[in-house]
Amino acid sequence: MTRRESILKEMGLAPLWRLRERPELVSPLAPLARRGEGGEGQRQDHPHPGPLPPAGEETRKQRIAALGWDGLKAAVADCRDCRLCEQRKQAVLGVGDVDADWLFVGEGPGAEEDERGEPFVGQAGQLLDAMLAAIGLQRGRKVYIGNVVKCRPPGNRTPEADETAACFPYLQRQIELIRPKLIVALGKPAAETLLDTEVKVGASRGRLFDYRGIPLIVTYHPAYLLRSLPEKAKAWEDLCLARRTMKELNDVAR
Ligand code: URA
Repeated sequence: MTRRESILKEMGLAPLWRLRERPELVSPLAPLARRGEGGEGQRQDHPHPGPLPPAGEETRKQRIAALGWDGLKAAVADCRDCRLCEQRKQAVLGVGDVDADWLFVGEGPGAEEDERGEPFVGQAGQLLDAMLAAIGLQRGRKVYIGNVVKCRPPGNRTPEADETAACFPYLQRQIELIRPKLIVALGKPAAETLLDTEVKVGASRGRLFDYRGIPLIVTYHPAYLLRSLPEKAKAWEDLCLARRTMKELNDVAR
């Protein structure tokens, strides 16, 4: 058991819903297998893992997994591994403290983010900043903000599964480098990508999940909150859960 796992156990937060070993991709753009075989919260390991990926994909993932921040920035800036590169102005890696305790993960850059090269700088970003402030946080101060896909999906559509799959190694590497204490998944695509299963945000709120030993909380995406004001109160509850969880993590670690 890792130190973090024993802390979580002590906090009474185990068992968490764990990320199953991600099935290897069949090709760089192959869709992720996301559907939990046993339904929500009852996932089982698949007895037949399927064909091994071609060597190229493994090599790509291994290469990304070995990158430091400079290499990662350069790789993302030059990435042409899915169709999202075709219409982007620039790739948007993420922003914030590389030593962050908190990691907030959104969906993908919108028009303003594509223009400015920073995540969450549009209207949804202003709301995210207000949400952070409400729990005493500030962009860049022990906080890192990233996205599931680094290039803007045309028309701000939801990223396709193959685009998410192609980009996920970058997010995985960001998480390995940052080693946040807590992850907040903003909306369904972030939650589904990180948990590798189908997620209903409404049903997943208020619970602690696990991303490779890191507690993960699911809440609504700020852009959704802008359209659906009644859910703001629920997002506030989620933030309070996140703040409480961080406090307990810090207390137990002391
Ligand atoms: N929405 C996101 O999910 N990410 C951004 O960076 C901006 C809007």
